[in-house]
Amino acid sequence: MSSSTLRYTRSARWFHWLVFAAVALAYAFINFRGVFPRGTPASRVPMQGHMLFGVVVLALVLPRLLHRLRNTPPAVVPPLAGWESVLSRMTHFALYAFLLVQPLLGLATVFANGPLTVPFTTLQIPSPMTRDHALHEQLGEIHETIGTIFYYVIGLHIAGALWHHFFRRDNTLRRML
Ligand code: HEM
Ligand code: HEM
Repeated sequence: MSSSTLRYTRSARWFHWLVFAAVALAYAFINFRGVFPRGTPASRVPMQGHMLFGVVVLALVLPRLLHRLRNTPPAVVPPLAGWESVLSRMTHFALYAFLLVQPLLGLATVFANGPLTVPFTTLQIPSPMTRDHALHEQLGEIHETIGTIFYYVIGLHIAGALWHHFFRRDNTLRRML
């Protein structure tokens, strides 16, 4: 196999696109918050869907990181300039940190206010935290701010992928397909 046809492992590609779908759905659901009239059963769906896909992200991130540590990505052909490699490493590091920290912050936001209702069920998971309304509000704000910042970081990542494919014409994107 020539280096230009090398790809990420099958698992790495599955992890990447499943996590992408879960993050996109977590964002999509939360953006529908407030659309349905309060008190109706439908009004609970956006937050429950948001929490469900957010937890899916959390469940996938550790196995994904473990897989990444054990498998070096295939080379980019032609090789990257120094600044390109630094920028992409920084972006990937930030994305992994986000995938871990953002769902944990979401969970902490809920637990600071009391038990967590398992999405789309009536099952309740007791909170390991003491109830603290001010902390709940603070964590919620941090979670929201990080969520906003990462629209841009994810945008940069996607722009990078498209730039590699259409302008630099290297194998970066094809390795992930
Ligand atoms: C990658 C995963 C996640 C992303 C990208 C994400 C993103 C966001 C964003 C952007 C908001 C702000 C929405 C707005 O009001 O404009 C938000 C709110 C919220 N999220 Fe997440 N979230 C994630 C995971 C989670 C998880 C796992 C939970 C809990 C199980 C959670 C619980 C919440 C809660 C309770 C709010 C409302 C916060 C408040 O307004 O006080 N999130 N999330
Ligand atoms: C929620 C959205 C996304 C997240 C969180 C995300 C996350 C990541 C992470 C952490 C890596 C690093 C993999 C490694 O360790 O080698 C990566 C690589 C990659 N992603 Fe994404 N990604 C997202 C969306 C996308 C989209 C929409 C595209 C395509 C348009 C894309 C294309 C790529 C490509 C081509 C690579 C390989 C880059 C390289 O090895 O230099 N990603 N992604």
